[in-house]
Amino acid sequence: MAKKKIGLIGAGNIGGELANLALTKQLGDVVLFDIPAKEKFAKGKALDLEQATALSGSDGKATGTSNWADVAGADVLIVTAGIPRKPGQSRDDLVATNLPIIRDVADNMKKHCPDAFVIVISNPLDAMVYELKRRTGAKREKVVGMAGVLDSARFALFLARALDASIKDVRAMVLGGHGDDMVPVLSACTINGVPVRELLAKDKLDAIIARTRKGGGEIVELMGTSAYYAPASSAIAMAEAYLLDQKRLLPGAAYLDGEYGYKDLYMGVPIVIGAGGVEKILEVKLSDEEKEMLKKSADSVQKVVDVVKKST
Ligand SMILES: NC(=O)c1ccc[n+]([C@@H]2O[C@H](COP(=O)([O-])OP(=O)(O)OC[C@H]3O[C@@H](n4cnc5c(N)ncnc54)[C@H](O)[C@@H]3O)[C@@H](O)[C@H]2O)c1
Repeated sequence: MAKKKIGLIGAGNIGGELANLALTKQLGDVVLFDIPAKEKFAKGKALDLEQATALSGSDGKATGTSNWADVAGADVLIVTAGIPRKPGQSRDDLVATNLPIIRDVADNMKKHCPDAFVIVISNPLDAMVYELKRRTGAKREKVVGMAGVLDSARFALFLARALDASIKDVRAMVLGGHGDDMVPVLSACTINGVPVRELLAKDKLDAIIARTRKGGGEIVELMGTSAYYAPASSAIAMAEAYLLDQKRLLPGAAYLDGEYGYKDLYMGVPIVIGAGGVEKILEVKLSDEEKEMLKKSADSVQKVVDVVKKST
């Protein structure tokens, strides 16, 4: 079987860690793409990563480029092109800068890798993945946004620490948009099947939910830029599910066409990822409170999407 090709659009902090994980996990060859001003940087990063394969034993190759022709035919594209948040900024503050960048990526993607499975990470996530799908006209099965896996990982970690439980046993799910209105779904949170509500008092759970919602901001305040290790691990879990046809049930930003009562909107919902891309969108039963939270989150996403639509 031919090796898979993974195009990483944006060779910054997340791009570098994506490449590292893809090579270490032997998912295929990676191409680190960035703008011409950053081409030498992308080439240097690729060389550094490739030299590390001499120690990891991976046969994956790494290339750095600013030429879309080198990305042509990629099986998977992971898009981190754009700027990250600085302290005090919201994700939505990035829309003016990142929208033209996503449009540029969409046009080149359509031309050079129309069949790729695309995972968008750039913020504001739900609006950027919406625009990439709209502009390329790609099928909804092939374009997904990464946020829910990361937000759920943060939620799971905080629960594990509060309960002094093994992270391996925590099942946690965060749905909705990738913003402060995201929806941690308590009814789906268990420690290997035991509902967390039976294990933690309400005030403690409320504090964990509040910390999860601000989980990205907490790191931006500490580092002066946004997180990259956990975001990269999250997107690689999605890429791996596609490349290895794992049929994983993960929360991901999917294009909704009536599901959960929403149309023409990208938002985090439980999806199944396998060789067909987003093979299923699952409509799980939510409590009335969770439905209300999802509505608030959808309204927030819609506001940013409206800004995007107006500027076409
Ligand atoms: N979805 C999530 O859960 C999540 C989590 C963390 C960060 N993010 C977002 O991911 C994005 C990337 O974060 P980062 O920390 O890697 O930033 P970074 O600044 O380290 O890297 C971004 C790279 O994109 C490049 N770029 C700019 N325009 C481009 C273009 N037209 N084509 C290709 N590359 C281009 C930049 O030169 C830069 O190297 C940010 O928008 C950030 O807010 C999303």
